[in-house]
Amino acid sequence: MSLPIILDCDPGTDDALALFLALGSPELNVLAVTVAGGNVGLDRTLPNALALVGLTGAAVPVFAGADRPLLGAFTSETAVHGNDGLGGVVLPPGGVAEAEHAADAIRRILRTATQPVVLVGIGPATNIALALATEPAILANVAQIVLMAGAWGEGNATPAAEFNALSDPEALAIVLRCGRPVVLATLEIAAQALCTASHLAAWRASGNGRCLTAACDIQGSVPFSRRLGGTGAALYDPVALAWLVQPSLFETRPASVEVDLGPGPSRGRTIVDRWGRTGAPANATVLERIDAAGFFALLTERFNWLP
Ligand code: BDR
Ligand code: CA
Repeated sequence: MSLPIILDCDPGTDDALALFLALGSPELNVLAVTVAGGNVGLDRTLPNALALVGLTGAAVPVFAGADRPLLGAFTSETAVHGNDGLGGVVLPPGGVAEAEHAADAIRRILRTATQPVVLVGIGPATNIALALATEPAILANVAQIVLMAGAWGEGNATPAAEFNALSDPEALAIVLRCGRPVVLATLEIAAQALCTASHLAAWRASGNGRCLTAACDIQGSVPFSRRLGGTGAALYDPVALAWLVQPSLFETRPASVEVDLGPGPSRGRTIVDRWGRTGAPANATVLERIDAAGFFALLTERFNWLP
């Protein structure tokens, strides 16, 4: 039986590959794709999500959500994702977004669900936080919340903070404190499975479907990470989805995780107590190690299962 999920995203180059992994995986039943501004503004992430879903041929409704964080100012990440969010790769336009707001859609789906639903957040946590904060009763129908957010060490957006965490720290705090199981894919786990030129070449050689080709073109636009040694680019968001599709790829660790909400240079930093030093009870499962070869085999297979 497939796992019902709601995928909240901000496409975004790595979001694009995560969407393909989700929609190419029969283990998952994607009930809705909800979209926030993040890597680029909502005016780009929404059409990107629609185009990506359209390319897969999946009949999944897409909902527009928050175009800014709960507090503070919106910031984008065009240096990695390009001004359009997909590295300049032009896709056929997708369908039309649903009229309902993303947070309302999350609440409605959870309120009426006949089995618990997994929330997956691979952008700023705003839409999920809005839904949970405004109708806490829906938490009873949340199976787990899988987030690409944070780092146990250095950040990528600032020295202290990871991009999604920094984009809406208050929203992330709401989700981390919600009481349901949270699984965290941090910067470090993605750094263990960098996408190099030879991975990309292997993908290209593996088939010629339109989604595989789009995945290769989009990933090919991403600059190699200077922070990670310049040999490849991290697939942050696909790693979070891989946890749901093939959990045997991972080693995990329970930990207490908090986010710094102060106004200073540490704003958005996640404090991940991997060694139980604070005595605070674990509120998250942190993905600690990934089988990189297995992860790339999974992506190759699933991109090729799509049209
Ligand atoms: C996260 O931030 C975004 O730039 C990526 O899409 C990913 O979700 C990595 O820090
Ligand atoms: Ca993202």
